[in-house]
Amino acid sequence: MSDLSQTADDLLQLAIDMSRRAHAPYSGFQVGCVIIDDNGNIFTGCNVENASLGLTMCAERVATGTAIANGAQTFKRIIIASSDAVSPCGACRQVLSEFSHKETVITQIDLEKGSRSDHLLESLIPHQFQLRKI
Ligand code: THU
Repeated sequence: MSDLSQTADDLLQLAIDMSRRAHAPYSGFQVGCVIIDDNGNIFTGCNVENASLGLTMCAERVATGTAIANGAQTFKRIIIASSDAVSPCGACRQVLSEFSHKETVITQIDLEKGSRSDHLLESLIPHQFQLRKI
């Protein structure tokens, strides 16, 4: 965790650096994720594969766990970097939406093309499952 005095470029680079930490020996598909919470704190994750393939953890959910375990509550921005412009899988969209709001932005970095795209998370999962909180 660090604070948001870093420039936006630094945050994009951090997501790229995180993708290089991925444990992805079975797919070779490395994904890095940076989450900035509404207080400007920064959390990171990468995908962690397992020989029992179904146990693989996506970068977005690893970063979400890191964020919540370190005191984050709501997410302002999520940056995902990989060799393709990976759009979060359905499970990750649902998990990210738990801690997001109408203005939460997802930035996808495509390392091969050297391009990036921004989307509102809400546009990626418009009707997420919700349960009344007790
Ligand atoms: N992966 C992620 O980390 N995030 C996604 O949103 C999609 C997929 C990972 C899981 C697996 O390690 C590899 O990419 C190939 O599916």
